[in-house]
Amino acid sequence: MSPPRRPLALLPTPLQQFAGMYLKRDDLTGFGLAGAKARALEYLLGDALARGADVLVTGGSPGSNFIAGAALAASVCGMECEVLVSGAAGQQAPATLQMVSCSEAKVLYTGVDRAELDKLIDERAAYLRDHGRTPYAVPRGGATPVGALGFAHAARELAAQLAFDEAVVVLPVGSGASIAGLLAGRAVIAARWRVYGVSVSRPLPQIRSEILGLVARMGHEAVTDWELIDATEPAGDRDVQIMLAALRADGVLFDAKYGTKALAAVAGLRARREQAPIVLWHTGGLPGALDLLAEAAT
Ligand SMILES: Cc1ncc(COP(=O)(O)O)c(C=O)c1O
Repeated sequence: MSPPRRPLALLPTPLQQFAGMYLKRDDLTGFGLAGAKARALEYLLGDALARGADVLVTGGSPGSNFIAGAALAASVCGMECEVLVSGAAGQQAPATLQMVSCSEAKVLYTGVDRAELDKLIDERAAYLRDHGRTPYAVPRGGATPVGALGFAHAARELAAQLAFDEAVVVLPVGSGASIAGLLAGRAVIAARWRVYGVSVSRPLPQIRSEILGLVARMGHEAVTDWELIDATEPAGDRDVQIMLAALRADGVLFDAKYGTKALAAVAGLRARREQAPIVLWHTGGLPGALDLLAEAAT
């Protein structure tokens, strides 16, 4: 039986030629500004609805695209939503957090570091359960085997769009849900793609074991032919310059937390003479890109 899925995104997203490579345009999923996260949310909300949940509990940093998408998805599905946010309320909420509030989700500032959030999400869900509610808890980034199904499905979608067998697929990595799903999906269809994950926030040994853990929980043990690239240094002026250059040359808006890091990684792979055609996954990040453009313009 196929897992329950609540359609949210406009799929398939386009595959476009761009600067000598291919761009998988998940910035164009058409669900709020959730980008690729809409894929995970289709399966998470499908599962939550199938379980009769009445409140979605999740969390992230204030700039998390996942919390913005999750709050919107809950609203669209007629479910309440509580969002636990790391740190304290700032003076100027980023666009992501504004999306959460506009989706009428309850925002709970926790004061804790983001690494602590998953524990608090579970505790909050347990509290709600004790008070007669039916919560559906989702860890940061939607990093569960259910959330990862979004990208497992995306592997099939990409395979149907590629006119060649061998490819190099590059995508930014935060929680690891997307790449875990892609690796699991790649295994199912036996695609001959080398996958590079560009880790933007977590050290490589940590994110590697989290990704492998998720892949194993999806029923795939031995995944090979993938590599992680460290891009955990904070976004800086170079990222802003890459963002503006892509915008001006091609009209494609990347963000500086995920998109420009992945673009820079592609340049590094080319220097290593990767031969196969490169597919760069544009995962979205438009709220952060807009915040940055506003900053760059002032
Ligand atoms: C724009 C964007 N790209 C990539 C990622 C990383 O995805 P994952 O958390 O599935 O690794 C995120 C995560 O929030 C994101 O918002």
